[in-house]
Amino acid sequence: MVQGAVNWNTGMTQKWLQEYVDDWVSFYRKHTAEGEVASYIPALKEANQDHLGISIIGMHGMKIRSGDVDVRFTIQSISKVLSFIVACMQRGVSYMLDKVDVEPTGEAFNSIMHLEMKPLKKPFNPLVNAGAITVSSMLDGETSKDKLDPLLSLLEEIIGHRPPINLEVYESERESSMRNRAIGYYLLETGFLDSDIEVTLDTYFKQCSIEVTIDDLARIGLILANDGKDPDSDQEIIPRQVARLAKALMLTCGMYDASGKFAAYVGIPAKSGVSGGIIAVSPPRVRNEPLPFMDGCGMAVYGPALDSKGNSTAGIRLLRHIATQWDLSIF
Ligand code: DON
Repeated sequence: MVQGAVNWNTGMTQKWLQEYVDDWVSFYRKHTAEGEVASYIPALKEANQDHLGISIIGMHGMKIRSGDVDVRFTIQSISKVLSFIVACMQRGVSYMLDKVDVEPTGEAFNSIMHLEMKPLKKPFNPLVNAGAITVSSMLDGETSKDKLDPLLSLLEEIIGHRPPINLEVYESERESSMRNRAIGYYLLETGFLDSDIEVTLDTYFKQCSIEVTIDDLARIGLILANDGKDPDSDQEIIPRQVARLAKALMLTCGMYDASGKFAAYVGIPAKSGVSGGIIAVSPPRVRNEPLPFMDGCGMAVYGPALDSKGNSTAGIRLLRHIATQWDLSIF
């Protein structure tokens, strides 16, 4: 497909890439019919099953957007990456890793069973509900508002505005939260909560209800691809060590019990959410031929129809196709 020394990182090829991505979005949209919109949080049922959109932001301002790009949706589990980053920035990495492990579970995101499987009973990783609830309890502050303030400020620094919390989704999640409450009480018993359980759960429900677009998520992905620095200003927004740890966790645990397959077939760090978003990070890569976004990029898809693991059916296929076409795998 690529002839000669095309510089894929300049605007020269933007039109060309845009046409390809438009075609791929049209092609993969049919896979939305294979999934189902999440219903265990009642407010999420209102999503349009047919939606599919992608945003890709590169290091030099190159941006490709296609499909349903303007839909606002709640960030859900993708917030777990951000709360872990903020907690590491506040408490330090070694403190956090004493409280939550970095091992994939191979179980569903809301599994309780795995909490009992290790002698220490420490949550397996910060990207499953159990680990994320522990992390929310470790954010600085006495109230959920205080705890979320630094997370919202970090988001503001990255995306340029303070994102709202969707109150309808927050209330719906709070009212249907039996399993997360069970996980919370289990963590309380085993000593893995640093704050009051109600404050912790409220923080967790609110962080999951932050409203974003795929452009916002792609921009967060870009910062992670650049090891925590904003490529435009060269300012460090996330410490390099924390950004790298977050990416390692995304690669090994970000797609839950489909993380192995995602690493094998797509090969880049990613994190999904039950509202249908996936954030993916393509770090800079070295190849013998010029390829799109070689300096790295942030990517995000939205497709609320989910597979049985809670990941966007069409979104995963679209990312897999792009990763194959553009040779994105880090391996
Ligand atoms: O706690 C929950 O169940 C949701 N707020 C988040 C779960 C989620 O996004 C899992 N993602 N695939």
